[in-house]
Amino acid sequence: MPQSHRIAVLPGDGIGPEVMVEALKVLNAVTKSHNFTVEHETYLVGGAAIDATGGPLPEDTVKGCEAAEAILFGSVGGPKWENLPPNIQPERGALLPIRKHFGLYANLRPGVCHPALTHASPVKNELIPNGFNVLCVRELTGGIYFGQPKGIEERNGEPVAIDTMVYAKSEIVRIAKVAFEAAMGRDKRLCSIDKANVLSNSVLWRETVEEVAKDYPEVKLSHLYVDNAAMQIIRRAPDFDVLVTGNLFGDIISDEMAMISGSLGMLPSASLGKTTESGGNFGLFEPSGGSAPDIAGQGIANPIAQILSLAMLLRYSLGQAAAADSIDQAVEKAIGAGFRTGDIFTGAEGEIKVGTTGMGRAILENL
Ligand code: IPM
Ligand code: MN
Repeated sequence: MPQSHRIAVLPGDGIGPEVMVEALKVLNAVTKSHNFTVEHETYLVGGAAIDATGGPLPEDTVKGCEAAEAILFGSVGGPKWENLPPNIQPERGALLPIRKHFGLYANLRPGVCHPALTHASPVKNELIPNGFNVLCVRELTGGIYFGQPKGIEERNGEPVAIDTMVYAKSEIVRIAKVAFEAAMGRDKRLCSIDKANVLSNSVLWRETVEEVAKDYPEVKLSHLYVDNAAMQIIRRAPDFDVLVTGNLFGDIISDEMAMISGSLGMLPSASLGKTTESGGNFGLFEPSGGSAPDIAGQGIANPIAQILSLAMLLRYSLGQAAAADSIDQAVEKAIGAGFRTGDIFTGAEGEIKVGTTGMGRAILENL
């Protein structure tokens, strides 16, 4: 009997639904070639859910995700819903509750600049002659995003806003372990990013990461203050292997990594929680870029980030590493053969400009 899995598919808004179509074609192909099955049910999320049900995260969607081993997520948000109160806006009202509800504490965001695509990076090409490949590990369910108290209240006759940054040692230990494990599978270099010259949170963070490091003697650990890290990443991205940091700093640093990699349309991400019965991690997998409302519906969005998110899902949640590898390789081959969506097209010799389905087809042909 072939192994059978179940995932929840949440295409969302903007380019989400178009790129998801291509990812599902790839899923269909790899399940056949690698002899396993994946049942996939589609659910509403974000603006699409607001329009249909009044809220960005319907109960039906949460139930569907609970019944699955992983969530394949598109993207949410757009100008249509921008003026709603912040806590029911698609991004905040869907993503943050999903992260908390499913305990998705470990956010893996690869920042990869393909050697053939360095021209698309805004960084001077002499600084990244062979591109770079950095993995940002961001803590995702703690820190200032979720700490209590939080809110705006009246004090001495004026509004005062309060956000609280809280990290328990156990939260730091578990994310540090994820980062060290990731480093062990890569180039064994880990840079922890904090603000230990100012924040108590960061003092505990640094001490704890140092403690966890004792279990990983092969990994070369370094530390940077976040302000300095923001500079060093621009100046010498190829020097970094794995980064680990808290929720707020990780939000910012991972966007910086994504920007200098050249195309948001190429980067997947994984948000992982607890280990499931099948031995994988429950997780949510989504492109790092947003819903790109400016290009939605035109058939020109790059589907690679969504397809690589599927590969991460197969690897981390379903334990189907061989299928994941074959997807990664097929994407490499399509890029190597010159296929380019608009975001990575330069007009150089050998480049073939394609749209969303054209790129999907080029990848499928290489599977
Ligand atoms: C991200 C986003 C979210 C975050 C927002 C939309 C809540 O920016 O996934 O990086 O800040 O985590
Ligand atoms: Mn962000």
